[in-house]
Amino acid sequence: MTTLSAVRYALWALLAGVVIGVTAAALGLFPGAQKGTVSGTATLGAPFTLTAMTGEPYSWEPATGAPHAIFFGFTFCPDVCPTTLYEMTTWLDRLGSDGESIKALFISVDPERDTPEKLANYLSAFDDRIIGLTGSREDIDKVAGDFRIYHKRVELDDGDYTMDHTASVLLFKPDGSFFGTIAYGEDAETAVDKLRRLARS
Ligand code: NI
Repeated sequence: MTTLSAVRYALWALLAGVVIGVTAAALGLFPGAQKGTVSGTATLGAPFTLTAMTGEPYSWEPATGAPHAIFFGFTFCPDVCPTTLYEMTTWLDRLGSDGESIKALFISVDPERDTPEKLANYLSAFDDRIIGLTGSREDIDKVAGDFRIYHKRVELDDGDYTMDHTASVLLFKPDGSFFGTIAYGEDAETAVDKLRRLARS
């Protein structure tokens, strides 16, 4: 094997490994989304009632009739959540009227600190289509589990704590079936294209 073909072979092997790894991660992360029931409805997510940032109860069920972008986080998040919220705001802005039908839900994984008032105050800096939701610890854990969202409280040295959580944005068609995800750090063109296709779904 020449040096060049050895390098090529190494690159191909590396690329194949990456593809296999990404596929496995996608299947492992959202196993329910691969199955679907006989009617073809995705099994990711389940009906829930939480508390909106207005203080009113907020109910969601799969067949809402509107395309949804659902993501989880918390207002004390130092980087990932504010970045996602900022990006979601710019994506919705870029979509203009194409994105009017999209509803975005930001569900707190830190309900102990994220009161409706705290969420309302925090989210006022972002697109007003983004609805903040909180609830009891029990309800939040149930909803996160139904959407296969990992979240875990992590104690900090100064006595404070932070939350580890899945950063993906989950997309649902108006009929409630799972459309796909927008990964954290995904480039803006791809994200806007996904949201445009979601709005037309
Ligand atoms: Ni976060």
